[in-house]
Amino acid sequence: MTFCEYRPGLEGIPATQSSISFVDGQNGILEYRGITIEDLAQHSTFLETSYLLIWGGLPTEEELAEFEHEIRYHRRLKYRIRDMMKCFPESGHPMDALQACAAALGLFYSRRALDNPIYIRDAVVRLLAKIPTIVAAFQLMRKGNDPIQPRDDLDYAANFLYMLTEREPDPLAARIFDICLLLHAEHTINASTFSAMVTASTLTDPYGVIASAVGTLAGPLHGGANEEVIMMLEEIGSVDNVEPYLESCLQRKSKIMGFGHRVYKVKDPRAIILQNLAEQLFEKFGRDEYYDIALALEKAVSDRLGHKGIYPNVDFFSGLVYRKLGIPTDLFTPVFAIARTAGWLAHWKEQLGENRIFRPTQIYTGARNAPYVSLEKRHSAHDESLLNFVTS
Ligand code: ACO
Repeated sequence: MTFCEYRPGLEGIPATQSSISFVDGQNGILEYRGITIEDLAQHSTFLETSYLLIWGGLPTEEELAEFEHEIRYHRRLKYRIRDMMKCFPESGHPMDALQACAAALGLFYSRRALDNPIYIRDAVVRLLAKIPTIVAAFQLMRKGNDPIQPRDDLDYAANFLYMLTEREPDPLAARIFDICLLLHAEHTINASTFSAMVTASTLTDPYGVIASAVGTLAGPLHGGANEEVIMMLEEIGSVDNVEPYLESCLQRKSKIMGFGHRVYKVKDPRAIILQNLAEQLFEKFGRDEYYDIALALEKAVSDRLGHKGIYPNVDFFSGLVYRKLGIPTDLFTPVFAIARTAGWLAHWKEQLGENRIFRPTQIYTGARNAPYVSLEKRHSAHDESLLNFVTS
């Protein structure tokens, strides 16, 4: 069968059948295994939601307790991973450190037992347990400190904040952070999930699957946008500068970070919940200086670009929440990765269930039967186009 229509970015082309999550972009609905994100944010936790995503149903009390227990038990890192991290440059981006460490985990745990449910379970537990420890350890190590060992008496979100800040977090802050993780845990076939699925379809090990997804999430058009939002608010600097800033972006045809989505044509339902969480944090710990700028920008962008369906996406308010929680800006995307590991693992498991290796086709646009020109007669064919690409 040949499918001839080419759609850049595969827009609208189904790449799989999945029962993990559902998005209605026109009406702003997101469901995990049929349960709305609003219900989960109100009643569930990140780990319970991870279980739901990965195993397809809410756990019983006993199943949840066992899952949580296993994750607590596997939070620590092998000292060789910590030693490897000590060699990373302090100036390196934490997403690169995370990608390297996720792949390195595969060195330690047996590969390719993909038909063994115990191996699958162990990989799920290890990755969910260790990814937060890696992120927190890199943060402390790049400041010249030893990483802090996880604390078994703290739950998933509280333990991460503790390992990061060396202080036991306020319960409201920990609960809000847990909801943030839950909100970022899954979102159908986005770029990083697709990347995970393509890698999974080769039957490689799950650590390689997560490493490839982390690399894809890092880009500014995807998970990296939450970091760029804060840099943008910083650059805008004041409410008065919102209109001139927007005008100059529109004239340069540059994208406003934290706005727009391939699927949502209304305000992202996760952005609505995150904005509410940000306000709860501001009420208890003080208003963020950038919040008024963000509100003014949201209004200005809605006025100017609402007709194109450009509204805040998940990344617009998440950065403000993370800032209030004391998370450094360049850890926003790694925090996203901690959460999305649940979704990636759910898709990995689903992919294994009915696997066929991904091998799309292409529409060839290059030369045919070109002559081989000898070295001394060649002119550079690529430099100019490469330069245009890099500077545009
Ligand atoms: N600012 C200004 N205009 C925008 C924006 C934006 N943020 N997003 C889309 N548009 C405009 C485009 O210029 C285009 O206009 P045109 O039709 O007049 O040319 C139209 O809306 C459609 O935009 P596309 O780029 O074709 O939409 P696409 O679905 O390919 O891109 C994307 C979606 C990548 C998220 C885009 O909206 C964007 O770059 N946003 C900013 C980065 C961002 O916030 N990314 C995080 C997304 S959420 C996530 O990944 C977790």
